[in-house]
Amino acid sequence: MNIIDIIAKKRDSKELETEEINYFIAEYTKNRIEDYQAAALIMAIYINGMTYRETKDLTMAMANSGDILDLSELGTNVVDKHSTGGVGDKVTIILAPLIASLDIPVAKMSGRGLGFTGGTADKIESIPGYNTEISEKEFINNVKNIGISLITQTLNLAPADKKIYALRDTIACTESIPLIASSIMSKKIASGANKIVLDVTCGFGAFMKNINDARELSKTMIEIGKLANRETVCVITNMNEPLGFAVGNSLEIIEAIEFLKGNMPEDLKQVVLELGAYMVKLAGKGENINENKEKLLGNIENGKAYNKFIELVQNQGGDIEYVRDINKFKKAEIIREVKSTNEGFVQEINAEEIGKLSCELGAGRKTKNDKIDLQVGIVLNKKIGDFVSKGEKLATIYANDIEKALETETKLLAIYKIGKDEIKEKTILDIIE
Ligand code: URA
Repeated sequence: MNIIDIIAKKRDSKELETEEINYFIAEYTKNRIEDYQAAALIMAIYINGMTYRETKDLTMAMANSGDILDLSELGTNVVDKHSTGGVGDKVTIILAPLIASLDIPVAKMSGRGLGFTGGTADKIESIPGYNTEISEKEFINNVKNIGISLITQTLNLAPADKKIYALRDTIACTESIPLIASSIMSKKIASGANKIVLDVTCGFGAFMKNINDARELSKTMIEIGKLANRETVCVITNMNEPLGFAVGNSLEIIEAIEFLKGNMPEDLKQVVLELGAYMVKLAGKGENINENKEKLLGNIENGKAYNKFIELVQNQGGDIEYVRDINKFKKAEIIREVKSTNEGFVQEINAEEIGKLSCELGAGRKTKNDKIDLQVGIVLNKKIGDFVSKGEKLATIYANDIEKALETETKLLAIYKIGKDEIKEKTILDIIE
C-alpha cells in the first residue's frame, strides 16, 4: 500500500477501503508518513467528505492508535460527556459531581484550552493544589472509592487524533464533519465509556455555525456510536453568546461553585439539566427525562452535589477552603467595569469574539506551551434579551495589564450589539438520539 495512491483516491472523491484508512493512521502515528502527505489527505477529506463507513473506520483506527482504557470494573453502564467546544463552558465541572451525587460513576478526562475555547483541566486547576495529572490506577481507584475523578489527558489515548488535530489547525481544516466526528468519538471510545452524551454546540462560538450542520454532525457521531457499540445521544445547544456569565479560568470555577450552591444562571442551568438528564437515562437510572431533571435539581437543593464536589477536590489534593469561601481566590489586579453607551435590548454578544478577548487578556493559550493567567477574563452582566440603560454596567473586565484592559473595553463595547427589538434565544436547540 502506498500513501500517494490513497491521497489520489480521496482527491478524486473515491471511497477509501478500511485497510487504506488503517494504513494511513498506523503509519502516520509512527511518523512514517510525512506531515505534508497527511495534510494533503486531510484536505482531500475536508473537500470531498467521507461516508459513514469511512468515518467509522477512521474513528476506530484513531481510537486504536494508542491505549484503550478499560472501565468495565466500574459497572456495565459507564457514561461520559463531551462538548464540541464553546466559550464560558463550565458544564463538566458542575455536571461531574452532580451525576456522581446520584451514585453514577464519573471517570472524566478533560482537555486543556487551546485557541479561543477554554479547557476544563485548566479551569479546575485554579483551585490551589488540585492535581489533574494522576496515574490511570489512581484515577480508577478514586472512582471506585468516592464515585468520581476528574483528570486531564495524560494517558496515551488516541495519539493519532492529537497529531491530526494539531495538523488540521494549521491547514484550515477544523470545520469538517467527518474530521470532527472521528476526532471526538475516537477519544471517547479510547476513554472507555460505553454510553456517551454529547453537547453539540451551535452558533458564533462553535465549530458548527448553523443548526443543519449541527444536526448532521450529531447524526454522524450517533451512527459511529452505533457501529462501535456505544449508545450516543446529542444535545444541540446554543453557543451564540457565552454560556453563563463568566469567561476565564478561576472566574468560571467560581461560577461553577456558586451554581452547585444553588445560584444557577438560566442558560447554564438548562444545559446542565438537559445533558445530565440524558446521562442519568443512559446510565439506566431513569427513563423519564423530566423526572431526571427533578432528581438533579433535588441534589443541588439538598447540597449533595456541592458536597460531592468538595469530596472530589479534597481527594485530588485541592484546597477545599477555596470552595467554601470563593473570596479566597486571588483576584486580578485590574477590575474594570464596562458601561453601556446606548440604551435598548442586547441583541448579540458574539461568543467567539468574547473568547478571543479573554484569550488576549491571558486566559487562553495561543500555542500549546503558553502559560495561562488563571485570574483574568470577563464577567458579563448583561446577556442577550436583557434591557440596558445608558451608563449601566454591561460587563466587568479582570486583567493584569492596564493596556490590555483598556483595549478589551473598547472591543467589548463593539461586540455588544444593542437595539430596539427584544430578542429571545433558545438554549436547547434540538435532541438527536
Ligand atoms: N473537539 C475535538 O476534540 N475535536 C474536534 O475536531 C473538534 C472539537
